[in-house]
Parts: sequence; structure tokens; C-alpha cells
Amino acid sequence: MKAAVITTVGDAFAIRDDLELDRPGADEVLVDVKASGLCHSDYYVATTEIGQSLPAVLGHEVSGVVIEVGANVVGFAAGDHVVACLAGFCGRCDRCLSGRSNLCRNYPAGTQRSPGDRSRLTLGGEAIAQFSEVSGFAERVLLHQNNAVVIPHDVPFPQAAILGCGVTTGAGSAIRSAGVRVGEDVAVIGCGGVGLNTIQGAALAGARKVIAVDIQPTKLELASTKFGATHTVNAADQDAVEAVRELTAGGVDHAFEVIGGIPRTLEQAVEMLAPGGTAYIVGAQPPTSALAMPAANFLFQKTGLRGVFMGSTNFKVDIPLYAELYLQGRFNLDDLISRTIRLDEINEAYADLAGGNVARSMITSF
Ligand code: APR
Ligand code: ZN
Repeated sequence: MKAAVITTVGDAFAIRDDLELDRPGADEVLVDVKASGLCHSDYYVATTEIGQSLPAVLGHEVSGVVIEVGANVVGFAAGDHVVACLAGFCGRCDRCLSGRSNLCRNYPAGTQRSPGDRSRLTLGGEAIAQFSEVSGFAERVLLHQNNAVVIPHDVPFPQAAILGCGVTTGAGSAIRSAGVRVGEDVAVIGCGGVGLNTIQGAALAGARKVIAVDIQPTKLELASTKFGATHTVNAADQDAVEAVRELTAGGVDHAFEVIGGIPRTLEQAVEMLAPGGTAYIVGAQPPTSALAMPAANFLFQKTGLRGVFMGSTNFKVDIPLYAELYLQGRFNLDDLISRTIRLDEINEAYADLAGGNVARSMITSF
């Protein structure tokens, strides 16, 4: 099959047509990919040394149609429309059994093939790493059943794909991780594909003020006209902390950093909190990134700083929820997708993303 392969960090994606995908094992689902999103994290992995095993097929934001299922698979049949999610879970540990699959103790091994077993993905007989248990920049994916969920046929494939990462991560950070409640004030720093979802998650949860912070006027406009931000702050023109504190009589209950890799914006998230508020690290952080903040402020301001991964999602519940809200017209997925591309346009599309021009490109033709 055809896929985009990364062999060396910093290289462009190479389009190859000679990859092999194994037949489904007992717990696996073979999926014909219909849409695959260009998430920032794949680009980050392709361009930053973080210890990812290479060569690899990246991509993890995928929707498609089930072709074939393994003997132990429950709840999937050929023809079903599915979304992949990298937040896989074993289904057997105490966390999974108590309804917190997002905290699975066996992540990610719980949905990987055992060491020594044949690789799901090979090239010329050699194993290729399956990034995030998905490897979505490809014509087909072979997923563990706990890395996929069935969705209604009437959600278009690109809109469905983005549920798998951008939406669960963004909206989930507000709804699940923070548990925003009616009347609370929220600030979101960074209004890209993920941050816009944090904004609409907070609005959906009933926040009073939802303050969008970015340095690009186009993102701020999108945030307020399409995703429910009540106020915008252009951090290129004004001090974001001061502006947010002024808008809220002294700070927000929840501040989300949704950029990644900039220690200063993380500090800003903490500094714009009201007493008792919490700041959330949503943006991906390089291993070398460090924070030096006065510990006493956390004590006397009774504030907290918390890392959240994939929006604390129990995705088998959350993805069908967002899909239904979308079909009801209460959740915006259409404006998250800026354009659809072919697999072989992946390098130029990522260059555009790095330049800050697009929210989400979706591969819809392979
Ligand atoms: N202050 C405010 N906003 C900023 C700043 C800054 N100093 N620097 C950049 N931004 C804005 C950009 O203008 C852009 O709109 O942050 C936004 C980042 O959006 P994207 O690049 O589209 O990234 P996105 O896909 O939303 O992902 C954000 O979340 O899950 C993680 O891995 C993901 O680290 C990434 C982060
Ligand atoms: Zn992602």
C-alpha cells in the first residue's frame, strides 16, 4: 500500500507504494482510510529528535471504513465508519475498569502487538514503526479495537477524522480535564486547531467569559465568530496577562496553554489565574523545556498547574458524543478544516502549517 514514510528526523515525508500491512490479529480492525489529518504533533515528531523509532509512518487523526475484523473484535463490522484515537487502553487495569481509560496503566503497550510478534507494518520484510498505534498517513490502517470507535455514517470523513485528536484534545481539555462549570471564566492561549476546540468546549460547558488569546488576528476572528469566544486578546499588541486580568476582575478560573514549547506562554497561563484557578499544559513540550516559577505564588494564590494529555478523553464515549453534537448543529467541525489535499501534497501542506497559514489540512485522496 501507499504511505508517507519518515526515515530520518528533519527529512521530508517520502511517498512510497510498497508498504505491507499484516492481516488483522484477533483484536484488530483493518480500515480503509478516507481522511487523515495533518496534526501539529506529527510534524513535531518528523522534525524534532524525541526518540521516535524510525523509519515510521506518522499520522494519527484518521477516519475510514472497516474492511475486516479479527476473531475477538466486538462492536465493529465491515462497512462501519470509524475514527481512530491514539488514546488506546487495555480495558483490564483498575483505571480502565473504573471508567478512566484515559489513565490506563498499560498505555500504550496495551494496544500494541507484543515484542517479538510480527510488526503490523513492514517495508521489504523489515518492521516499520506504527506511530501512535495508528500510522495514518497511509491508504489503510490496522488498529487495535481499543484504538477505534464507530461513528454515524452521516458525519463526513474529514470532520470525523478531526474528532480523533484535535477535538478530543481541545474540547476535552475544557470539558473533561478542567470540568469547566457554568459561570466560570476561561482563557485559551493559542487558537489553532486544538485551541479553537478548547474554546468551543468551554463555551459548550457554559463558561461565562471565554477569552481567546493569539498573535494572529485571523485566528482571533475565527475564535469569536465561529467557536464561541466572548472576548479576544491579541498578545502581539498587548500584555496578555494584564488584558485577561482586566477583562475578568482579576483572573480566570481556568487558563489553557495550547501552543507548546514556549515557557513564557505557560507562565502567562499561571499568571492570569484568579485565586484557586488552574492552568493546563495542553501544547506539546520538548523534553528540554523547563519552568522556573515562584513556588510561593502557587501556595498563596491556591493555584495549580496540570498537564493534560489528549484532553483526558475516554474516547469511546467522547467521540460519539461530539459526533452527535455536530449532527445536531451544536458543535463546529466544518470550520476546523481549511482544505483537503492528496497524500503526495503532505510536505507543502506541513510547510503551510509551520507558516501559521492553516487550521487543518486533511488528506482525502491517496
Ligand atoms: N501567544 C499567543 N498565541 C501564540 C503565540 C504566543 N506567543 N505563539 C503562537 N501562537 C498561536 C499561533 O498563532 C497559532 O494560532 O498559537 C497557535 C498554535 O496553533 P497551531 O500551530 O495550529 O497548533 P495546534 O494544532 O492547535 O496545536 C497546538 O497542542 O496538542 C498540541 O501538539 C499540539 O503542541 C501543539 C498544540
Ligand atoms: Zn494530534
